[in-house]
Amino acid sequence: MTTVAELLQPVESDLEDLLSNLRVLIGAGHPILQAAAEHLFSAGGKRLRPGIVLLLSRALSPNGELGPRHRRLAEITEMIHTASLVHDDVVDEADTRRGVATVHSRFSHRVAVLAGDFLFAQSSWHLANLDNLEVVKLLSRVIMDLAEGEIRQGLYRFDTGQSLDSYLDKSYRKTASLMANSAKAAGVLSDLPTTELKSLYEFGRLLGLAFQVVDDILDFTADDAQLGKPAASDLASGTLTAPVIYAMEEFPALSGLIEREFNEAGDLEQALALVHQSKGIARSRELAEKFSHEARACLDFLAPSEAKSALLDLPGFVLSRLY
Ligand code: IPE
Ligand code: IPE
Ligand code: MG
Ligand code: MG
Ligand code: MG
Repeated sequence: MTTVAELLQPVESDLEDLLSNLRVLIGAGHPILQAAAEHLFSAGGKRLRPGIVLLLSRALSPNGELGPRHRRLAEITEMIHTASLVHDDVVDEADTRRGVATVHSRFSHRVAVLAGDFLFAQSSWHLANLDNLEVVKLLSRVIMDLAEGEIRQGLYRFDTGQSLDSYLDKSYRKTASLMANSAKAAGVLSDLPTTELKSLYEFGRLLGLAFQVVDDILDFTADDAQLGKPAASDLASGTLTAPVIYAMEEFPALSGLIEREFNEAGDLEQALALVHQSKGIARSRELAEKFSHEARACLDFLAPSEAKSALLDLPGFVLSRLY
C-alpha cells in the first residue's frame, strides 16, 4: 500500500516548511495555548489537506514553483483542520488523536475550547492578510460549514429518520467543504477561469466525501492503534453513518435498538453485530469508490506533471486505507 508520505513526496520539503511556519505563526499566543496547539502539530497528522493545496499549486504553476500566497493558503488549511479536530474531540469525548492524548485530556476542556478558538482566530487573521476577497469568502464559508456540520450531527444523534442524503450533506459540511474550497482557493490564487475553478471544487468535494465515508467505515472495522484515535465510537454515541443507514434498511430491528439509545444490556453489541452482518459496510465502500472514481475525472484539465500524477493517486489512497 502506498503510504501518505510516499504520495505527498513531490511536496515533502514544502510540508516540512509548512510545519515550521505553523509553529512560528501560532507562536505569538499565550504559552498554554501554544503548548496545546504545538502538542497536536508535532504529533503530525497525515497533512492531506495542505498536501492537496500544495500539489495543486505546483501543478497549476507554469514553472512548477510555489508562491508565498499558495504556501500560506496551505498553512491556513491545516490550521482550520486542526482547530476543528480540537473541538471535535471535545464534542466526541475522544481521548486520543494522532496517536497522542487529545488536548482536552492532556490539558483541560477549558484549554481545548480556547486552543480551538485560538487556531480558528489565527487562521482568519492570516486569511484576511492574503488580501483576496474571493479566497476569504471561500475559507470563511468552510468555518461556517464545519460548525454547522457538527451542530447538525449533535442535533440528530440517535435519530433513525436520517437519510443517506442528509448524511452526505452533513459530511460535506464536516469534511468535504474544506477540501473543496481550499482546492478552489488554490485555483483562485493562480487566476484560473471559472470552469477550471469548478473542477477543482468538485475534485475536493468528491475526495472529501470519499474520505469521510472511509473514515466512517474505519470506525467499524479498524482499531484504536491503527487509527491513532478511538475506534467503534460513532454508533455508541448515536452518530449514524453510512454503514448504519444502509444496515437499518436491511434490519429494521437495528432502528429499535438505536431509538432506545442502547439502554438495555447487550443492545450496543447486538447493534454492532447487525451492522457487520449487513451489507452496510460493503455498500458504503462502493459509495466511497464511486466518489473517488468521479474525483479523478475532475483533474483531466491539468497539464501532465509529477504533482498531477500524485493528485491522481489521492482518490485511490483514500480507498486503500480500508485494506
Ligand atoms: C480526521 O481527518 C477528521 C476527518 C475528516 C475524518 P484526518 O484523518 O485527515 O486527520 P489527520 O490530520 O491525519 O490527523
Ligand atoms: C470529522 O468527523 C470531524 C471534523 C471534520 C471536524 P469525525 O468525528 O468522524 O472525525 P474523527 O473520526 O474524530 O477524526
Ligand atoms: Mg471525532
Ligand atoms: Mg465528530
Ligand atoms: Mg470519524
